[in-house]
Amino acid sequence: MASIAFKQIYKSYGNISVIKGIDLEIKDGELVVFIGPSGCGKSTMLRLLAGLEEEDSGSMYIGDSLVNSIAPKDRNIAMIFQNYALYPHMTVAENIGFGLKLRGMNKKNRIRAVDETASLLGLEHLLTKQPRQLSGGQRQRVAMGRAIIRNPKVFLMDEPLSNLDAKLRNQMRIEIKKLQRRLKTTTIFVTHDQIEAMTLADRIVVLNDGKVQQVGAPSKLYSSPVNKFVAGFLGSPSINFIHARRTGDNELTLPDGQCVLLPVDQAQILSDLREVEIGIRPEQIDIVKSRQTTMEENTITWSSSVSLIESLGSEKLVYSYHGEHEVAVKTTNSNGAVEGSNIQLSFSMNNAHLFALNDGRCLSPLAGIAQKGSI
Ligand SMILES: Nc1ncnc2c1ncn2[C@@H]1O[C@H](COP(=O)(O)OP(=O)(O)O)[C@@H](O)[C@H]1O
Ligand SMILES: [Mg+2]
Repeated sequence: MASIAFKQIYKSYGNISVIKGIDLEIKDGELVVFIGPSGCGKSTMLRLLAGLEEEDSGSMYIGDSLVNSIAPKDRNIAMIFQNYALYPHMTVAENIGFGLKLRGMNKKNRIRAVDETASLLGLEHLLTKQPRQLSGGQRQRVAMGRAIIRNPKVFLMDEPLSNLDAKLRNQMRIEIKKLQRRLKTTTIFVTHDQIEAMTLADRIVVLNDGKVQQVGAPSKLYSSPVNKFVAGFLGSPSINFIHARRTGDNELTLPDGQCVLLPVDQAQILSDLREVEIGIRPEQIDIVKSRQTTMEENTITWSSSVSLIESLGSEKLVYSYHGEHEVAVKTTNSNGAVEGSNIQLSFSMNNAHLFALNDGRCLSPLAGIAQKGSI
C-alpha cells in the first residue's frame, strides 16, 4: 500500500501542452476518481504515473519513493483498461496466473495465488473456461484478477466499465468499490461518467484542459463547486444557469425584469461585479400552485409552459424555460404539471450559487446548504 503524489507535472506532445502543472496528493488506501471531458488528460496522468509516458517536468512519488526514473515494471502498479484483452487461447486460470509465471513463480505457489484471487472475485467455477465462453462481466473480472494477483501498491483503472451495458456497469461498479474497500489498495479510477464518479469516489478530482479544477469528497464538490465548470459537470440533469444583472448593492435583476434581494453573505461577496449567473440545481426548484406563492424577497418565482416531462419512476424531470434559458426541475411533486401546461416555478436564493459571468468562478458559499455537508 502507498500514497501517491504528483508535484508540478507538465507534459506536452510536440508543441501541444496536455498536462499543465498538476499538483495532487492521494492518501494511502484511497479510491480517487479522475473525471473530466474527453481529451482533458486523464489517461495521460495514469500513463505518466505508470511510466508509459515520460513527463516534461515535475515529480511523482509512490509512498516515499520518487518514481520518475524507476522502470515501469518496477513501479509496482497494475493497470486495468476498457479493452481488457485477455489471452483467447488460455483458460481463466492461465490468464490470471500468467503474470506470475512470467516472473518465474513456481507452479504450486501460482496455483494457490490463482485460487485465492479467483475466490475473491467469484470466479472459482470458471477457472477452466476460455474467455470466449464468458460473459462481458466475467471477462472484466478476469482482467481484475490479473491485476489483483500481483498484489500491486497501486491500481490504475482507465474507464474499465465503458464497454459494459448499463446494468452490468452498475453491478461491476459496486463490486469494484467493495473489492477496493477490502484490499485497501490505493486506486485511481478514470471515468467521464459523473454518476460513476459520485458513487465510487472517496474523493473526486475534476480535470479540465490539463489542469485540476477541484478536489474533494463527492458531496462537497456537488454542494460547493469552485466554478461553473465543476458545477455543470457533476449532477444530472445539469445545474441550471440564469443570467442576472446587479442593480443594487444586494439586488439582482433577471432578464424578465424581476428583482431579487440577495442574502447578506452573497451580496458582500459580489463586491463590484455587475454581471453574474445564478446556478440552481434541478432539485432545488419547486413547482408551486400559483395561489400558494409567497413573494419572499429572496425567492425567484416565474411562470412558464412545460416543454417536456420525463418520468424516472419515483421522480419526474420537468423541463420549461426562464426567458431563453432552459430550466430542468427534478421533483416528486409536479403539482399536476403536464406537457404544454403553464406552471409556476420558484426557488430561494439561499439554495443558489452565484458565478462571475466573466470567468465562471463561484462567488458565493451556498448560503443554505454548503455549511452543513462540507468535508
Ligand atoms: N501519444 C500522443 N501523441 C499526441 N497527442 C496525444 C498522445 N496521447 C494523448 N494525446 C493528446 O493529449 C490529450 C489528452 O489525452 P488523454 O489523456 O488521452 O485524454 P482523456 O483520457 O482525458 O480523454 C488529447 O488532446 C490527446 O489527443
Ligand atoms: Mg482516456
